[in-house]
Amino acid sequence: MSRLRKYTLIVVLLIVLGIGGFVAYAWRAAIAPIAPPQADSFDTTLVEQGRLVAAAGNCMECHTASGGTPYAGGHVMKTPFGEIISTNITPDPEHGIGQWSLAAFTRAMREGVARDGSHLYPAFPYTAFTKMSDEDIHAVYAYLMSRPAEPVSPPETDLPFPFNQRALVAGWNLLFLDKGVYQPDPAQDAEWNRGAYLVHGAAHCMACHSPRNALGAEKDGKHFLAGGDVDGWHAPALNADAPAAVPSTQEALFQYLRHGHTADQGTANGSMAPVIAHGTSVIPESDVRAIARYIASYTGEASPQAVEDARKAANDRAAEATRGLDTDGARIYAMTCVACHEAAPQGERFGAQQPLWLGSTLYLDKPDNLLRFVLEGVQAPADPSLGFMPPFKDYLSDAQLKSLTQYLRTELAGQPAWEGMDEAIERVRKGEANPMWLATGASNT
Ligand code: HEC
Ligand code: HEC
Ligand code: HEC
Repeated sequence: MSRLRKYTLIVVLLIVLGIGGFVAYAWRAAIAPIAPPQADSFDTTLVEQGRLVAAAGNCMECHTASGGTPYAGGHVMKTPFGEIISTNITPDPEHGIGQWSLAAFTRAMREGVARDGSHLYPAFPYTAFTKMSDEDIHAVYAYLMSRPAEPVSPPETDLPFPFNQRALVAGWNLLFLDKGVYQPDPAQDAEWNRGAYLVHGAAHCMACHSPRNALGAEKDGKHFLAGGDVDGWHAPALNADAPAAVPSTQEALFQYLRHGHTADQGTANGSMAPVIAHGTSVIPESDVRAIARYIASYTGEASPQAVEDARKAANDRAAEATRGLDTDGARIYAMTCVACHEAAPQGERFGAQQPLWLGSTLYLDKPDNLLRFVLEGVQAPADPSLGFMPPFKDYLSDAQLKSLTQYLRTELAGQPAWEGMDEAIERVRKGEANPMWLATGASNT
C-alpha cells in the first residue's frame, strides 16, 4: 500500500469514527408515550403557579400563530438560518404534547430534546429554561396539561440544508448550552437572587437584550444585556450603556416593566410590549420588583439629582429645538406628531403623550426602531391605556421621513445625525409586511 493511500485511509477512518462518535453523542432515546393526563388530576395550586410561570416565560406569545388558537403553535420566527415555526403545546395527543410525560417535558425544557428524541432548535429558549427549578417546570407542565387540547397542526419548520439536520444542534449545545438550575449567589440577598433566577430562567430577558454570535448563540460576559436585535427591533442595552438621556433607577425599571411606560424610559413597544402585556404585568408584583432589582445591578442606580438634572437638560434642549419652524423636519414634526407627543396646556389629551426626546428611541445607534414607530404606528401597546398611534407609511415620502427623523435625532435629542438613512428606510419599509410580534400582542388580558 502506498504511503499516500495509507494516509488517506487513516483520514477517512478518523472521519468515519468522528461522525460515528458524533452520532452516538447526538443520539437521544425516545421517551415512551403516556395516555394524556386528566386535566383535573393536577393540584389547583400547582396549576395556578404554572399559569404565572408560563406568563413569565411568554410561552403563549411564542406558541400562538397570529390570530390563532392559544398554545396551538404556528408562530413564525425569522432567524438568519430560516423561518422556525413553533409547535402545538396543548395536551392534544396527536398534534400537541398530550403524550409527553413530565420526564419528557422536563428534558425538552432543560436539554432541548423532544419526546421522540429529536433535537429542538434553540429558537425555543431552552438555554434559559434549563435554569428553572424542577418545581416551576412541573407547574408549567401541570398548567399546559390542564388546558383544552387543540387538534391543530402548524406548518412544520423546514430549514435549508445543513440546518435541517437537527442532530447538528447537539454540537451547538455542546458549545453553548450551560445546563443546570440557577444557583443562588450567596453574596446577594433573596430578592436579588429571585430576580436573577427569573431573568436567566423563565423570563429569558437576555434572549433579546444580549447580542448573538454568528452561530446564533447569546454572547455572555461583558456582552450580557449589552443590547440585541429581534425581528427588526433593537432591544436596547440594559447595562451602563443604556442609551436613554435620563439614567435608570430600580423604581423606574419596575414602573416600565409593570405598566409599560414611564416618561423617562418611554413606552414599551415592538417585541417588548407582549413581554409586559402577558408577562410582567401579570406575574406577582414582588417578582417584577426582583427583576428590576437585578437589572438595576447592571444599569446602575442613578441618584434623584442625576435623574432630575438629565431630565432638565433634555427638556431644555427640546424646548430650544421646537422654538422655530425653519426646517422641513421641524414643520413635519409640528404638523404630524406634536398633537399627541407634547402635553397639551389644557391637560391630558389621550394616551401616554410620550415626549420623544425622552426614552431610548432617538438615542439608539440605528434609526430602525424610530422608523418602525413612524411607519407602522403602535397597534398593540403594552397596555391599551397608553394609547395607539396611527401608521404614517402612506402619508410620508422617504424624503419627508428622512427630514423628520434626522430633525428628531439631531435637534430634539442633540445626537449626531444617523448614517445610512436611505438603506434603513428601504429596509424598514420592506420588513413591514411581517411585524411578527406586533401582530400577536394586541390584548392586555
Ligand atoms: C421565543 C419563542 C418561544 C418561547 C418564549 C417559548 N417557546 Fe416553546 N418552542 C418554540 C419553538 C420555535 C419551538 C419549536 C422548536 C423546533 O421545532 O425545533 C418550541 C418548542 C417547544 C416544545 C417542544 C414541543 C414539541 O412538540 O416538540 C415545548 C415542550 C415548548 N416549546 C414549551 C415551551 C414552554 C413551556 C414555554 C414557556 C415557559 C415556551 N415553550 C416558550 C419557541 C418558544
Ligand atoms: C394620534 C396620536 C399620535 C400621533 C399623531 C403620533 N403619535 Fe407617536 N405615539 C402615540 C401614542 C399614544 C404612543 C404610545 C403608545 C404606546 O407606546 O403604548 C406613541 C408612541 C410613539 C413612539 C414610541 C415612544 C417610545 O417611548 O418608545 C415614537 C417614537 C413615536 N410615537 C413617534 C411619533 C412621531 C415621530 C410622530 C409624528 C410623525 C407621531 N409619533 C405621531 C400617539 C401618536
Ligand atoms: C422578545 C424580546 C424581548 C424580551 C424577551 C425582553 N425584551 Fe425588553 N425590550 C425588547 C425590545 C425590542 C425593546 C425596545 C422597545 C421599545 O423601544 O419600545 C425592549 C425594551 C426594554 C426596556 C427599555 C429599555 C430602553 O432603554 O428603552 C427595558 C427596561 C427592558 N426591555 C427590560 C426587559 C426585561 C427586564 C426583560 C425580561 C423580563 C425583557 N426586557 C425581555 C425586547 C425584549
